[in-house]
Amino acid sequence: MLELPIKDIKPGMVLATDVLTARDITYLRKGTVLTRQYIKQLAGSGIGSVSVFSGEDNYQMKDLSPRETLIETRVLGLSAIDKKLKELIDSHTINPDYVNEDLHQICKKALDDEADIATLTKLRVHDKYTFLHSIGVAIISGIIGKIENYDKSKLSLLVRCGLLHDVGKLVVPPEILNKPGKLTDEEFAVIKLHPTAGWSELNQKTDPSHELLAAVALQHHERLDGTGYPDKLKEESIHPFSSIVAIADVYDALTSERSYKLAYKPHIAYKIMTRLSRGQFVEPLLREFFDQIEIYAVGSVIETSEGYAIVKSAKYGSAAHPRICVFATERYQLLDEPYEVDLSKDTPISISSVLEDISLIALSNRLRINPMTFLENDYPEKNF
Ligand SMILES: [Fe+2]
Repeated sequence: MLELPIKDIKPGMVLATDVLTARDITYLRKGTVLTRQYIKQLAGSGIGSVSVFSGEDNYQMKDLSPRETLIETRVLGLSAIDKKLKELIDSHTINPDYVNEDLHQICKKALDDEADIATLTKLRVHDKYTFLHSIGVAIISGIIGKIENYDKSKLSLLVRCGLLHDVGKLVVPPEILNKPGKLTDEEFAVIKLHPTAGWSELNQKTDPSHELLAAVALQHHERLDGTGYPDKLKEESIHPFSSIVAIADVYDALTSERSYKLAYKPHIAYKIMTRLSRGQFVEPLLREFFDQIEIYAVGSVIETSEGYAIVKSAKYGSAAHPRICVFATERYQLLDEPYEVDLSKDTPISISSVLEDISLIALSNRLRINPMTFLENDYPEKNF
């Protein structure tokens, strides 16, 4: 615990004691996460200093003012659900058939369970990013469940599993959770404690569904090929819900912005999860999920095994295999006869990368043509 003058208080710090006014009326309660607004109010109220938790404090929410903190978690959770779903709808990255009102209702309902909110509150106070990530994982798990045709009760349970999958991170100090650089072996060993810690946290509850919630918290870092942790489980010994939450967890982490990294575009997440992590995730599940994601947007210029091409159309259901127009060789020679290929048919062509800003400008300069020309015109289809 640290006593700091108001000028040294930063947003995100957590109050370690109640802040009282001159008349001993509670102004802010212990456990409040200080926002810019609160800090401004404190500075204007004449209070000289406050006590905040330091990273070494192992504080427990049991000691905190329960009622308001729980309500605050619910309100913040609901607005995070709205924000994330709006982002997904506005960015058109996921098939809108799956990001719908139905899913919205199921996610909102997941915040009605008192015991779940209490657990989530501990996590929110401990680390805001993990709390927001949990909301993202709940939503994406729900989307995968919908793609897999889960019924409503199964979907609700899956969304709760996503919401609580990382509660074990309570045992990991925030400075390790939010460390921008590479973790040391010791720090990674601490991170690896969180699935078991999550299991212990959730397994204490009496509600029978908590057995499944605990199992998913325990297994969400297990990988199909046995390279995961904590138990190096393989294949069928991993619960199907854990396999879904594992995909949602990695996809959300890759496509979300953090203080130390930009959000990766879906095609990068696709490449990482299907190629660099080959064999770790349930293959059909991963394929069905990415088929509903706009990996290659229309107009994207891509590098393929046959040369440079532009994406002419892509449809959900086979989004990883768009219709393309190949217009130049990999040695920057414009083709005399550009051609179109439907990658959803059997072809030997594979996409290796999507060209972004600088490499796209460099390609245009080199070819002395704007690749968008090939989007506007039709070319004969080549069959293999
Ligand atoms: Fe995790």
